[in-house]
Amino acid sequence: MNTKVELLNKEKPNMKVLEKAGKIIRNGGLVAFPTETVYGLGANALDDEAVQKIFIAKGRPQDNPLIIHVADFNIEQFVKEVPLIAKKMMEEFWPGPLTLIMKKSDEIPSVTSAGLESVGIRMPANNVAKGLIKEAGVPIAAPSANISGRPSPTEIERCIQDLDGKVDYIIGGEKCNVGLESTIVDCTVDPPCILRPGGITVEMLREIDDRVYIDPAIMKKPEENFKPKAPGMKYRHYAPKAPVKIITGDLKKSIAKIQEIVQNYIDANMKVGIMATDETIEEYSNAIIKSLGSREDLYSIGKNLFQVLREFDDEKVDIILSEAFDEKGMGIAIMNRLKKAAGFDIIKA
Ligand code: TXA
Ligand code: MG
Repeated sequence: MNTKVELLNKEKPNMKVLEKAGKIIRNGGLVAFPTETVYGLGANALDDEAVQKIFIAKGRPQDNPLIIHVADFNIEQFVKEVPLIAKKMMEEFWPGPLTLIMKKSDEIPSVTSAGLESVGIRMPANNVAKGLIKEAGVPIAAPSANISGRPSPTEIERCIQDLDGKVDYIIGGEKCNVGLESTIVDCTVDPPCILRPGGITVEMLREIDDRVYIDPAIMKKPEENFKPKAPGMKYRHYAPKAPVKIITGDLKKSIAKIQEIVQNYIDANMKVGIMATDETIEEYSNAIIKSLGSREDLYSIGKNLFQVLREFDDEKVDIILSEAFDEKGMGIAIMNRLKKAAGFDIIKA
């Protein structure tokens, strides 16, 4: 192990560790830390050299802007204006898994916003994240703490796996509560547009403005002339090493179809992983079978998704077959990540 790792209790994080981590950020270093969504790879958002190190550590394309993380509501200095709709969303959902895109001020270096005139801001709910930002005394730019393209880490072990030796400090310890990255809402346009679905659902946002809609490009296979508005959503993403296929349709038929496909792969001498649910896990055989959780509780499915994808990497499966979920509520965010992990390889049962 090359990078120092410090385990923290998120209810009562050790202040000495947070002070040290905050100092590293202030001095231009990199710290991986937990949030309620996924682990983040943080640097001082106002220091362009520090932010540049994030892109290098992750192997991230330079045209993909970073979200900045704050610990209080005084964001006026980072944006041209806070639109009324953004204010309402902040009041309702911050701290929490919601990133708001606004027009950026000159305080935000262009490397942070990848040359865009806008910036995404969020206030995380996790105490370690909040404490770190307060100690740093600066906003923290942080993408998910994974090597670009891999599933985001929801456990500290996965952070270490991807970033050991590439960052100055790794802090955390507990599994992330939400397990999927924050919902991103573009507040520079009217009506506001969801660029990435997450733990704050479209239904919840429509309580504030019933015109909120989801960027139609993100649930579909990327095609020319139909590009997602969040630059990061165009890349193949969230992908384990093995290819993923999603089987959609009536659940009973899907189970039968998955079993049929499993047999074909076994005949070809391949090791198959199946992403099942508590309700269906008993139906399968002849594969490495893992449950994402109960279909009755889509939040638990979201929480486990990236972890299970990475476990299949550990098992060195050759192919992963996944059940599908209804695209409602949290199901929208789950299917968005699954489809991207699968490169939109979808089979209708
Ligand atoms: O939950 C999260 O948001 C996590 C944790 C660490 O806070 N962070 C995260 O960051 O998911 P990242 O960099 O993996 O994803 C940020 C996404 C990318 O798809 C990026 O293109 C988009 O946000 N984004 C950032 N700034 C943007 C902007 N100004 N306009 C449009 N999209 C933006
Ligand atoms: Mg990411």
